[in-house]
Amino acid sequence: MARNLAPETIAAQAAGAMDEATGGIVPPLHVTTTFLRDPDNQYRKGYSYGRPDNATIQEAERVLAMLESADAGALVFASGMAAATALFRALSPGDRVVVSRVMYWAMRAWLLDEATRWGLHVTFVDTDDLDALRAAVQAPGPTRLVYIETPGNPLWTITDIAAAAEIAHAAGARLAVDSTAASPLHTQPLTLGADIVMHAATKILNGHTDVVAGVLAGRINDDFWARLVQIRRSNGAILGPFEAYLLTRGLRTFFLRARQQAESAHLLAERLTMHPRVASVLYPGLPTHPGHAIAARQMTNGFGYMLSIRVTPGKAGSGQASAIDTAARVRLWTRATSLGGCESLIEHRASIEGPDTPCPIDLLRLSVGIEDADDLFTDLDEALRAAD
Ligand SMILES: Cc1ncc(COP(=O)(O)O)c(C=O)c1O
Repeated sequence: MARNLAPETIAAQAAGAMDEATGGIVPPLHVTTTFLRDPDNQYRKGYSYGRPDNATIQEAERVLAMLESADAGALVFASGMAAATALFRALSPGDRVVVSRVMYWAMRAWLLDEATRWGLHVTFVDTDDLDALRAAVQAPGPTRLVYIETPGNPLWTITDIAAAAEIAHAAGARLAVDSTAASPLHTQPLTLGADIVMHAATKILNGHTDVVAGVLAGRINDDFWARLVQIRRSNGAILGPFEAYLLTRGLRTFFLRARQQAESAHLLAERLTMHPRVASVLYPGLPTHPGHAIAARQMTNGFGYMLSIRVTPGKAGSGQASAIDTAARVRLWTRATSLGGCESLIEHRASIEGPDTPCPIDLLRLSVGIEDADDLFTDLDEALRAAD
């Protein structure tokens, strides 16, 4: 498939994958764990064992690499966490890393616990503040990796990727970006200067709430990328072939879903701004969001499918109680964690993040799906008005 095709075309046709043997338009699912060795002891077909590689996984990787303009290619992992943590495992004990303070809570917990146990020095910083980021990166002891999440969970904090890349590179560090909430529809981190982009493909890339998967895509095929390939191989963190098959299928409709979800999210954000029970709406598409100016420059085709609202106190007297009660009263939104599926999800985020979270206790996180936006608004409106 030619490289200059629109990403929508690449995704819809799974980068041209077909079944060469039968002419089937949909490629088969390769479940084998081992491969026949040639009589002269070679593996000329390129495969030897299922842990390092698999043809079905490579089909998903081809699409993802093209969507991210990743010259090094893409690697799919058994989860978003497996992909993200591989980046840190590729470093050595004693190395310093600088990461976003506002980020997916389980990743923050892993960095605080496992990464420090492994001997990494982890500095959390508000990466939307470039002076603070520069100071953290330039602190004594060389920084090896800057890891940002933008928009950052669950405040949708925006970090300027191009500026962060300049700061990281000036200090000899690499920049990796968790772009899960942006998706390739809205942001191209590698084109903006990042070295690695990471996605929890569990979310909008697969989009059907039936696969746990992660991906890394690399700008340069260098030693660091080779190390990531080796880590996935030796740690056994590869995605299963059935999940990879579903992921490629989900990717075929990714752009349709993501455009609709972003449009509905923006509409809901605007309408919720005027709601009497909503103290504030956090959505990078709103001019009131602190990261809006950078988001308007950095993001394309809209601002994504995620937003949060802070709920005003009701009869029970606390915003937290009102937020929890609102989530209890919705009938159309699904009360569940995760994001990016066809069905809209609502979550009282502080309940899952624990006591050290930067997440306000009156915050509801909303993942907007592909349902009718008016239906979604009406359901939430009724729940908010009825909440104690
Ligand atoms: C922004 C972000 N990054 C990473 C992850 C981890 O992905 P997974 O659950 O597939 O391990 C998540 C999961 O919610 C996420 O929201």
